[in-house]
Amino acid sequence: MVFPIYVYGHPVLRKVTGIIDKDYKDLKQFIADMFETMDDSDGIGLASPQVGKSVRLFIVDTSTLKDEDPLLKDFKKVFINPSIIERIGEITPFNEGCLSIPGIREDVSRESKIRISYYDGDFNFYDEWYDGILSRIIQHEYDHLDGILFTDHLASLKKRLLKNKLNGISKGKFDVDYKTVLPGKRVRSK
Ligand code: NI
Repeated sequence: MVFPIYVYGHPVLRKVTGIIDKDYKDLKQFIADMFETMDDSDGIGLASPQVGKSVRLFIVDTSTLKDEDPLLKDFKKVFINPSIIERIGEITPFNEGCLSIPGIREDVSRESKIRISYYDGDFNFYDEWYDGILSRIIQHEYDHLDGILFTDHLASLKKRLLKNKLNGISKGKFDVDYKTVLPGKRVRSK
């Protein structure tokens, strides 16, 4: 099932998410639906709050970025109850976008390398390091679990310049080819 994407201004995007326990109802189906939703909207990452579920889970699929780095071709993972343990390396800008903030892309500065622990869909535990594009995407998605959006990281002048555009998004002033939910919970079709 393809979920509609909750957009900027919806309170669920600002909530700190809750831990998922092993007997979370229909977890496998939820993960499958998350991947289906991300494919449908051509995303490379998607976090639960973006589909209106305030739980600690996000997915990453970089297969569409295979031309940038062949290593990204087969990267398709779910991160459950993740915890970023360390962020190191140079802080560099990278152009980011978000399915919940359609039409806006901005450079966001983040550390280049992270260490993250998480569980997969079968509740196997992992403790891994990531750098490059994967480190970027993971930090962006991880932020969603704490109610943080990439625009929060921008300098205050930039934020002021974007304010009208962001308010416009929460009022439905955007054009995307995936289903969305605006603040107030109206589902908008494609
Ligand atoms: Ni996002």
